[in-house]
Amino acid sequence: MADNWQKHDMSFLDGRRLRRTRQTAWSRAMVRETLLTPSDLIWPLFVIEGHNEKTGIRTMPGVERLSIDLCVEAAKAARDAGIPALALFPNTPDHLRSENGVEAFNPDNLMCRALSAIKSAVPEIGLIADVALDEYSSDGQDGLVRDGEILNDETVDVMVRSALVQTKAGADIIAPSDMMDGRVAAIRAALDAEGHDQTQIMSYAAKYASFFYGPFREAVGTGARLKGDKRTYQMDYANSDEAMREIAQDIEEGADSVMVKPGMPYLDIVRRTGDTFNIPVYAYQVSGEYAMIEMAAAAGAIDRKGSILESLYAFKRAGANGVLTYFALEVARELGK
Ligand code: PBG
Repeated sequence: MADNWQKHDMSFLDGRRLRRTRQTAWSRAMVRETLLTPSDLIWPLFVIEGHNEKTGIRTMPGVERLSIDLCVEAAKAARDAGIPALALFPNTPDHLRSENGVEAFNPDNLMCRALSAIKSAVPEIGLIADVALDEYSSDGQDGLVRDGEILNDETVDVMVRSALVQTKAGADIIAPSDMMDGRVAAIRAALDAEGHDQTQIMSYAAKYASFFYGPFREAVGTGARLKGDKRTYQMDYANSDEAMREIAQDIEEGADSVMVKPGMPYLDIVRRTGDTFNIPVYAYQVSGEYAMIEMAAAAGAIDRKGSILESLYAFKRAGANGVLTYFALEVARELGK
């Protein structure tokens, strides 16, 4: 009650009132510690065959898979909004998926055609190519499978070939997302041997076996085929020291930057990575995080725009150099206003 409040002795504050700097918008702007700009945002795109084709994704309201021509338009929009790079993911047609994932290194595959079309139409934007077998294999695993086992070294060989065709097609950054051991060194050596010494490697270094990837698997068409889980290669969500070992090793193998994934539930890992290593660190606000915000906002539970910005600022506050986010275009446009 305002009229019978108890007056307390506040002398212990000794003049220190932390609310003082929060009183006005100009003052809040002055003391703001982190900034979010369009150059912090990397936009993932899902690519499909066809022309002028877009298809919705039930669990990712607001995101659509795009045919290559529409990806080119999206790339122009991204460039105009100040987004530095796109991350591409193909939804490979079913008949091209196989047990050995050979489509991954077909130089004319959907991914390579998308990379080269975007590179020639919008050379100013960086292109990040995901390297993993799940987008090409019939079982949805990121590696080759024999008798239920995910084969490490054989998978690395396919990944190296995949990285090479992607680089030749126009990828600027190779982003291995499979968590096989030794793939960064193998890809680096192969790229250098073929004269691609300026092609970067952004390693999905600390990637957890997460339940937040569900909508992505719908988007690239692997969800229904995936048998079992990915726990023999993606990390246990209970671990943090292990993430530091993964990152240290990938840096030693030649990674130019590292990624932590998922994002929001793993901000402690982002922070620890930044505190421990001198290397750019990116966080991936994954599909399940996107879906949570969109669906909660649609249900009227949270303010959509406010919670999107808050989530992205949290990544910057935790020390991320940038964020892969499905909100990238909308937010970059908003920030540029
Ligand atoms: C797999 C890959 C995944 C994502 C990016 N690359 C899924 C998985 O590991 O199962 C997830 C991204 C997201 O959920 O938004 N190569």
